[in-house]
This record gives sequence, C-alpha cells and structure tokens, in this order.
Amino acid sequence: MAGTTVLEAGPQAVRCEFERPGPFNLFIFGATGDLAKRKIFPSLYQLNTLSLLPEDFLIVGSGRKSMSTEEFRRQMREDVRSAAPGGRFDQGKWEELEGRVHYMPMEGRGAYGAMLEKCVPLEKRYRTCRNRIFYLAVPPSAFDDVITNLGEAEAAREPGEGNEGYSHIVVEKPFGRDTESARRLNVLLRRYFREEQIYRMDHFLAKETVQNILMFRFSNAIFEPVWNNHYIDHVQITSAETIGIERRGAYYEESGVLRDMFQNHMLHLLALTAMEPPSAFATARVRGERAKVLGSIKPLDPRRTDEFLALGQYGPGRTDGEEIPAYRSEPGVSPQSGTATYAALKLEVENWRWRGVPFYLRSGKRMASRRGEISIHFKPVPHTIFKGYAGEIEPNTLTLCIQPNEKLDLFLQAKQPGSRICLGPVRLDYTYPEGIATADYARILLDCMQGDQMLFACAEEVDASWELLTPVIRKAESIGMKDIFQDYAAGSQGPAAADALLARDGRVWDPL
Ligand code: BG6
Repeated sequence: MAGTTVLEAGPQAVRCEFERPGPFNLFIFGATGDLAKRKIFPSLYQLNTLSLLPEDFLIVGSGRKSMSTEEFRRQMREDVRSAAPGGRFDQGKWEELEGRVHYMPMEGRGAYGAMLEKCVPLEKRYRTCRNRIFYLAVPPSAFDDVITNLGEAEAAREPGEGNEGYSHIVVEKPFGRDTESARRLNVLLRRYFREEQIYRMDHFLAKETVQNILMFRFSNAIFEPVWNNHYIDHVQITSAETIGIERRGAYYEESGVLRDMFQNHMLHLLALTAMEPPSAFATARVRGERAKVLGSIKPLDPRRTDEFLALGQYGPGRTDGEEIPAYRSEPGVSPQSGTATYAALKLEVENWRWRGVPFYLRSGKRMASRRGEISIHFKPVPHTIFKGYAGEIEPNTLTLCIQPNEKLDLFLQAKQPGSRICLGPVRLDYTYPEGIATADYARILLDCMQGDQMLFACAEEVDASWELLTPVIRKAESIGMKDIFQDYAAGSQGPAAADALLARDGRVWDPL
C-alpha cells in the first residue's frame, strides 16, 4: 500500500456516556455457572468502575449448589479479579458491589415463590423499588422449567404503572434449536410475560462496532445512495475465531456452528447491513426492519446445499505456535463426531435493493486469526481511462471491523506520488480509541436496567432466522454432517469447499 490517511474522531466521539439506570434487583439463575463467572459478574464490576450502577441495587445469585452468600461472594471476587483487564482490579469498587450480592440455593417448584418472598425485605433494605430482572444464565434445557416456575410464582407481575416496578426476563442464546422449539419457547414466555418484558440475547448486537453500522449507514449521506445492487458487487461477513470450543464440548456437540453462530450473530450482522432505514431510531422500528430483511432472505433449498453451503470440522493443527488437537479429541466430544465447527453460506436478499448481490457469510473455530468483520465489495469502475498507465483497477471495499480491532477501513484508488502516472490503493481508516468501548455484556445489562430492547431480538427475528436455517440443518443432520463436510487444519483459512463456493462465482474470500 502506497499511502494511508488516518481520520481522527472528533473529541465529542469519546464523550458519549450512558446515564445511570434506576434501582433494580438482578436475579441470576445459574449464578455458579460459566456465564456468570466469565461475563455477568465481570460486566457488573465494569459498570461499577464506570459509575454506571445506581445508588440502590441488589443482586441475587441462585443455583442448585448449596453455598453461603459469603462463599459465593468470595468465588465471584476471585473470578472477577482474574478476569480484570491487565490485572487491574480495584478492590474498593468490587467491595461496593459485593456488599449487595446475595446467594440463594434453589431446588424444585415451590422454591421460586419462597425465594421471591425472601427477597422482599432485602429489596426494601436496598430500595430497589420492586424493579426485577430475571437473568436466565442456565443451560437451554432448563429454560422451560425456570420460565414456568417464575411464571407460576407470579414473577412476571408488575406492581405499578409505568416505570414503577418492572419485571424483565433475559433469555440467553440459543433461543430454541429449530423453528418449532423456538416458537414453543416464545409461546411459553408469552404465557406469563408481555413482549415488552422479554429480552432475547444476542450479545453481538451490543458490540460497539455492530451498533455503529446503523449510525454509519444512516447518518452519512454519502453511503446510502451507493448501498445497493447498482454499486455493490457482493458482501462478505466473517466471524473467525482462533479459540476452539473451550470447555463446552457437550453444548457444542448439540449445537454446531450453524446454531451457535449463524442463527443469531451472523444473521444479525447481515440484517444490520442490509435492512432498510427505519423511520426513527426507535426500538419497534429498528427491530421491525431487522425482522423484515431476515424474512426477505431467499429460502434455502435443502436438496441443493452444494450451491450455498460449505461445512467443515477442524482437525489437528497449530495456532499461535501452539499444537491444537482435532475437534474430535476435545473433551466432551464424540471421537466420531459429525458436528460442523465451520460453515460458509451464500445468501440472497430478495428485494429491489439487493437483487443479485450475494452475501457470503463464514464463521469457524480454530481459524488462522481472530477476525470479525463486514466487508462491502463495490463494483469495478464501468470503464477505465487509465489503460496502459495502470494494471487492473481494484474495486473499492469498505470494511467494518468488529474485532479484534474496532475500526472502519475504506480502500480507494489514488495516484501514487511520483512523476509517472501510477495508481495504487489508499486506505482511509478510523480506529476506535482503545478502552472506551463498553463491553458487550455490560451494555446488555445496562439496557435491561433501562428497559431498552433495541439490542435484543424480537420474536419475529428469531422466527425468520430459524425458518431460514432449520431445513438446511435438518437435511445436513439427516444425511450425517460427516458426509458433507471437510476437515480443515486448525489454524488454517477453513475448508477448501468454502473457497470453491466463492470461486464458482469468480470471487475469493478476504484473507484472514
Ligand atoms: C457465543 C458462541 O455466542 O459467541 C461462542 O456461543 C462464540 O461459540 C462467541 O465463541 C463469540 O463471541 P465473542 O464476543 O467472544 O466474539
């Protein structure tokens, strides 16, 4: 690359602070599990260090394990301390939080009502104004039980009008495992809770750069006119991870990459990239447009998976200089496993704006590098006047990088300095200042406390994404994923079949 221009953000860009939410009582079901340890408590701690928690709040952890509040607090303290970025752990900030954490072991139906009653004096003491958030950090197999038990214990009842006393329920992903089970889960939730009380998680929506997609598209007049099939050749959406399945073998065997990453995160990235502008930045409008575009994706014919799908499973290899065992040798994984850890999918959005523009999505574990990005590949210039002066003119690309670096890159062609006419690519980039992004889970918690559902999926979005993927997953499972996927070496770019998917259209993946 011959030239780089860095555009700095204006100073106002770093001064966008949240407001503190009102008082609340956060119930965490599955509080001794991995999610509470890795995400929820570190995020609560982050919110407190940013002075984003209110004066009055209470946190009630519950789980099957019998332990005292003291033991629970100690365990959470150690977990948060070891997760603190750069080892910087502020004991004082943690203690402010810790004093409001209580643990209640739970078993069986009657336990829910009893727990809610036991909380009433605590809620009075901590002046939580009877605002309650029920966070289901339990395995999906326990969702039905927890929802039913909460419902029967009248946990959904909101005592006051307006903001006086709310009850919100947060349901972690995966939301169902196919169209039918997701619909059943929605029916069960709605038996007890109103839609405005239901928060369906997709933490990707809360990532800083993912939120920026809408700001970028709809507050700059120069992009929207070219955001269509007249100017865009194709779109690539990547979520490549270097990590494997960590200690989640049993979950992953049941799930696989299509359920784990595509039904939610990948399709939401597509939705934000392809949706029409909502008339206002309001929850119902934004979610409505996301759902509409997901419902406009051309249905996938399960008899022709070779035209739009490539699957893979990682074999042994190396990442970051480390020897990586094959997926089938991971703990909790069957040595004959047919679960796909990589998928590439070609999708088409059937509307005027996108007709003829393929969206290529890929996500995999144990890839060459960690990379989350949306890359818009524009069409080549219609005619070049520079024949004889420059080789092939590379089409423009715009890349919205989600992770590990949060930035925007726009590649243009420009004259290279010198006396000869010589063209070359120039990059305009904007990198988010480090350390100002609120972690996705912290943002999720804050939004639940503030009653803002925009970054959560509505029932229609969940339904549209399962309707798209369920027939393909069923088909792949019925013939045995093993017969249609290829192994790829850990630390590589993925299976050759994924390259072939694009090569058939005369395109290549952006390198990882
Ligand atoms: C989760 C998936 O939803 O998202 C994981 O279950 C995946 O398998 C994770 O690793 C990726 O999220 P992030 O925020 O770490 O990129």
